[in-house]
Amino acid sequence: MIGWRDATETALYGPGGFFRQPVGPAGHFRTSVHASPLFAAALTELVRQVDEALGRPAELVVTDVGAGRGELLLALGAHARAHHPGLADRLVLRAVERAGRPPGLPAWIGWRTRIEPAANGVLIANEWLDNVPVDIAEVDEDGVVRLVLVDPATGAEALGAPVAGADVGWLERWWPLDPAEPGLRAELGGPRDAAWAEAVGSLGRGLALAVDYAHRAGDRPPFGSLAAYREGREVHPVPDGRSDLTSHVALDACLAASAGERVVHSLWTTQREALRLLGVSGARPPLEQAGRDPSGYVRALAAAGEAAELTEPGGLGSFAWGLQSVRMALPAGWQTLAP
Ligand SMILES: C[S@@+](CC[C@H](N)C(=O)[O-])C[C@H]1O[C@@H](n2cnc3c(N)ncnc32)[C@H](O)[C@@H]1O
Repeated sequence: MIGWRDATETALYGPGGFFRQPVGPAGHFRTSVHASPLFAAALTELVRQVDEALGRPAELVVTDVGAGRGELLLALGAHARAHHPGLADRLVLRAVERAGRPPGLPAWIGWRTRIEPAANGVLIANEWLDNVPVDIAEVDEDGVVRLVLVDPATGAEALGAPVAGADVGWLERWWPLDPAEPGLRAELGGPRDAAWAEAVGSLGRGLALAVDYAHRAGDRPPFGSLAAYREGREVHPVPDGRSDLTSHVALDACLAASAGERVVHSLWTTQREALRLLGVSGARPPLEQAGRDPSGYVRALAAAGEAAELTEPGGLGSFAWGLQSVRMALPAGWQTLAP
């Protein structure tokens, strides 16, 4: 038996691992990127705002970390060309992905396995951090916090050695477990903090955005949030490479890990609030439009349905948006949202 971090690493990213399959993440679950092109359009608007804030540099890099099959950058590039040609000409679109470059992806999208340093622009990580493998800790019958071990073939679990080293401090600071409550669990978020700090650290100037399922101190799930998905359905978590393995992100810890002199503003809001600010509204078109412009009405109605899905409370609208601006202020409007 091995720890969940090693088991997840092999199951998701090892040879034949879940994210190396040709079908890609979209074959198994729907992110906001797949739900509607309105998501990419909204992120294009965010890129435009950052471009303004940076004084329209000659080159603006948009990095998509955990890019799947490049769907977001494809849509973002197309939207920018159609609506902001002056900006589109200056965009450098760069996917960062552990899976290989998909065949047929246009040459105007770069493909890297690592984040490149010193980029000025926007870094986006949509549903990336929840797939950064982490270990799991559990309180045993004697009140000792131990690592959870798992059999990669069956998903059967056992408790291993007491949690040690940097993980002890991480738990105390971010996810204290009451020793009087055997069975309480926590995901040890140190690797995610490090991953996010590296991502934010890669920006010379610009904005980093993490969008994910998240929780904050005082509101952690008492038994952790490990879950597995295959072909759109939740399944029992077995780290055998046949399903996505994910757990919600301790985003407050990630944001704190990257905070420092370079980070001017940190903000945590919901996708619902953020998309509203970027002009995505689920409001239905006025009925009288149906008579005067039937096809426009039908298009507006469809867009309103998609916007409603992206902003739905309890659904995609509840996703956390963690924003950190590096050597620049947040664009106008964002500072009005709760910190
Ligand atoms: C849930 S998918 C999200 C895909 C896409 N961002 C979307 O929203 O549709 C997570 C992706 O992150 C990739 N990934 C995970 N860790 C990574 C890393 N350290 N560097 C680059 N990509 C990574 C996985 O291979 C997978 O394609």
